[in-house]
Amino acid sequence: MFHEALKAAAQDVQAVFDTVLAEYEDFPVVHAMRYAVAGGKGLRGFLVLESARLCGVDRSGAQFAAAAVEAVHAYSLVHDDLPAMDDDDLRRGRATVHVKWDEATAILVGDALQTLGFELLSRDEVGPAEVRVALITGLARASGAQGMVLGQAQDIAAETAGGDLDLAGITALQANKTGALIGWAGQAGAVMAGADSAALARYSAALGLAFQIADDILDVEGDAATAGKRLRKDESAGKATFVSLLGMKEAKARARALVEEAQDALGPYGAEADVLKAAARFVIERDK
Ligand code: IPE
Ligand code: IPE
Ligand code: MG
Ligand code: MG
Ligand code: MG
Repeated sequence: MFHEALKAAAQDVQAVFDTVLAEYEDFPVVHAMRYAVAGGKGLRGFLVLESARLCGVDRSGAQFAAAAVEAVHAYSLVHDDLPAMDDDDLRRGRATVHVKWDEATAILVGDALQTLGFELLSRDEVGPAEVRVALITGLARASGAQGMVLGQAQDIAAETAGGDLDLAGITALQANKTGALIGWAGQAGAVMAGADSAALARYSAALGLAFQIADDILDVEGDAATAGKRLRKDESAGKATFVSLLGMKEAKARARALVEEAQDALGPYGAEADVLKAAARFVIERDK
């Protein structure tokens, strides 16, 4: 049930990109944009669509919000992989954008995907103007220097001062780096419905943290061919992670506890939230 929903969400998001980008110039930066939005798990888009379904929001409008967060996420990955950041050559099982094209193209692809995300949220189909403004404001905060960008900056700072981060510090870093976008996605359905988002906020905060702990575990234990990205980089980069701070066993226990916390938060929705509960399990059991 969950895997079908994840796949369907990724297909719907891809269909939005196919339609929207079909209108763009035939130019390398556009080819690279299409390349960069393809091939991911689509977890953030899925969270938008599934929270929308839970809150009774029409999928035809929600799909643009789902594509919006996937565009911003894809931008963050293209820039994350740049030589000045993580210097990676493999993403989603393929060459990174700056390797396949060049650095200037990768920087511009990130810029363009970021603005595309906000343009998608401004579309009439997404809902009344006040809903669109709330989504746009929320995504701007979640992706900017109070959210993902701050987390990326903290992550880079932690490479040089890795030993100084304690558990509270790493939790705050991860909540920004990964948690903010996941949090926005998990609450988007409630925002679109004009409903109370407290339960979904608690769910996605726990989910986001579990997701990043799993990413850190994968970096140590995963298989690069399956994961589609280079692994065993965190330790050599001197990065403080949940694994380096807690040890592998504790990190796994903490991820499991967070999955339970995420599932408990969905209590008010009953069985209607079973797919989101399964998503929480997937987040720590995934191998990519
Ligand atoms: C990878 O995110 C980067 C992190 C935030 C840890 P995902 O694991 O969701 O990447 P894709 O979109 O499926 O490639
Ligand atoms: C990247 O975190 C998070 C963002 C792009 C915001 P990582 O650097 O750990 O992600 P991977 O391991 O390269 O996917
Ligand atoms: Mg990084
Ligand atoms: Mg990286
Ligand atoms: Mg990582």
